[in-house]
Amino acid sequence: MDTFNLMEEFKTIYQTTNTPKAFFAPGRINLIGEHTDYNGGHVFPASISSGTYTLAQKREDQKFRFYSMNLAGKGVIECSLSDLDFKEEDSWANYPKGMIQHLIKAGYNITSGADILYYGNIPNSAGLSSSASIELATGVLAEGLYDLEINRVDMVQIGQKVENDYIGVNSGIMDQFAVGMGKENHAILLNCDTLEYHYAPVELTEHIIMIINTNKSRTLADSEYNERRSQCEKALGDLQTELSIDSLGQLTKETFDNNQHLIKDDVDRKRAKHAVYENARTLEALEKLQQGDLQAFGQLMYASHDSLKNDYEVTGLELDTIVDAARKQEGVLGARMTGAGFGGCAIAIVETNKAEAFKKNVNSIYRDTIGYDATFYTASIKDGAKEINIEEVLAI
Ligand code: GLA
Repeated sequence: MDTFNLMEEFKTIYQTTNTPKAFFAPGRINLIGEHTDYNGGHVFPASISSGTYTLAQKREDQKFRFYSMNLAGKGVIECSLSDLDFKEEDSWANYPKGMIQHLIKAGYNITSGADILYYGNIPNSAGLSSSASIELATGVLAEGLYDLEINRVDMVQIGQKVENDYIGVNSGIMDQFAVGMGKENHAILLNCDTLEYHYAPVELTEHIIMIINTNKSRTLADSEYNERRSQCEKALGDLQTELSIDSLGQLTKETFDNNQHLIKDDVDRKRAKHAVYENARTLEALEKLQQGDLQAFGQLMYASHDSLKNDYEVTGLELDTIVDAARKQEGVLGARMTGAGFGGCAIAIVETNKAEAFKKNVNSIYRDTIGYDATFYTASIKDGAKEINIEEVLAI
């Protein structure tokens, strides 16, 4: 994108000379623990430096105006504080509308409108949580504009509610939690059942985390996602005929192995196996990271991908091609898909001085197999959603 000045854009779009407040919410990667959040298991995500910038100014009246520099063609989308319901024609602006509506429903005092400009630098449909990023950017913006004190975990849960009840995607808590609670140079080990969490330093000595975008957008992802969820729920129901558990995340691998015959359907059994084994892998991965055993951590990433490919069946040719190509490169500790799957991004832990060769070789295999290029970014792990200085926006 051409260089531009968000502040000047804001002043031009909204015809104002005032200086707005500025906010940022990141995107996220998940190091390991995929499709475990809605199964009451653990996840291990981190917030990244790309995300959503917003500039906002409170209004005296009840009007909200939303403008996205990424979707400039949609123009300024307007609505009133008294009519924040979902409307198809409001397109992307439904995310901030939903967030504001749900904050009000939760009792937060928002009594006037605002002019808001959004700019995101997370690649589109890449599975790096651009929607959670918009939701949490709106959450911190509401906090800053209306002088609210919003408990951060509440804000995260309100974001998930917007996704589930307002947008209609049945996703778990991971994305909003990572975006809202992220911490520079740390990943978050989160128990999605109890919401207990702790930060683990990501120290990769001489290695970087590479994000590899398949550039395949996640078509059909929502219906497949919901199907996986209901298969896990059926498997849980079968297991509950003899076991007293509330979620698959409460099972050890051994208990699962000894009781898997209770699951009637073969496909449901495979899905549940992934959920249980992936949860165990996530806890093991935390241990390995804490011990500085990056080799073992990388092996768990590969095992996670294999399970997502064979048992959960959410990878697809594009992601598999990336991960297989990564396995063959020098200086790679591990690689796996990240996020929901069905396209989107993979991540790999790559020796810093092998990174250029990695990009070149993986892309060449990818282009030969798939027919177009992948895109490579180096991930840096940064803080979660917050108000920022206007100078930080001018530096974009
Ligand atoms: C999407 C969802 C998350 C999680 C992941 C898979 O990103 O939004 O809640 O389920 O997929 O781990």
